[in-house]
Amino acid sequence: MSRAMPTETGALPVATGIENESKVFNHLLGSEGSLVVSKVMAQKGHPNLVELLGCFEGSGIEAVSALGLELPQAEEEPVYYFVTELLEGGSLDQLVQRGPVFEETAKRLTRKICDGLLSLHSKGVVHRDLKPGNVLFGSNEQGEAEPKFIDFSHAALAEEDEESLHGELGTRGYVAPEVLAEKPYCSKCDIFSLGCLVHTLLSGKPPRRHMRIGMVQHLPATVSQEARQFLSSLLSMDFRSRPGAAEVLREPWLQEE
Ligand SMILES: Nc1ncnc2c1ncn2[C@@H]1O[C@H](COP(=O)(O)OP(=O)(O)O)[C@@H](O)[C@H]1O
Ligand SMILES: [Mg+2]
Repeated sequence: MSRAMPTETGALPVATGIENESKVFNHLLGSEGSLVVSKVMAQKGHPNLVELLGCFEGSGIEAVSALGLELPQAEEEPVYYFVTELLEGGSLDQLVQRGPVFEETAKRLTRKICDGLLSLHSKGVVHRDLKPGNVLFGSNEQGEAEPKFIDFSHAALAEEDEESLHGELGTRGYVAPEVLAEKPYCSKCDIFSLGCLVHTLLSGKPPRRHMRIGMVQHLPATVSQEARQFLSSLLSMDFRSRPGAAEVLREPWLQEE
């Protein structure tokens, strides 16, 4: 990891934009940042995670002023800039804007996305902002479309079921109840968000939240009972009842015919 050199204007040399076939983007990661980066980098070659080509460290003070952020506490922290492969196939968000996907397509995508999530969780990395806009399509060696996670700006380290994470992070419609309740939480917050993402694939929208009865599914009548049971288990309000990523892959809905 090398230190970012300030440009003549004093701003950091990158932030967004495309350089040499790769995408350069920035993230504030706080004190855990370098550890998260090294663990994500260690997953090189996983087909369902964006490939990190490099990373460098900058100063929080420069980044906060260059990006126009109002985050006084971030000034003390270093900033880590990721350089990643460029993914040109659009996002899952763009895909569902054209309408819900067929159940078979949703299953195929869910298996791959969950495989990427399992790889992250098995290294103790929690993504914390899983949603359709943070899954982009690239292609695999056979030239087929491959969904890949991007955006590690909210990622943090925690072992499965270790309630050591804090902070209300994530995106409305996809964020786990324990995160909204400002309780300490664990990697199972990603499983809840995965459930919301799969609901969006099948219906175009995340499930609704109901104060008393929890999550309410609104799915087309053609969606199978197995898919509904799959979603109920991922969307459990109590994280202890949610499966881990490895168990999600063993759910009946995801088994090959
Ligand atoms: N590797 C990439 N290839 C192509 N586009 C990307 C890539 N990474 C990010 N983007 C684009 O930039 C947008 C914002 O990036 P993201 O990492 O999600 O940051 P944030 O959501 O925190 O602003 C994405 O929605 C996507 O359109
Ligand atoms: Mg994003």
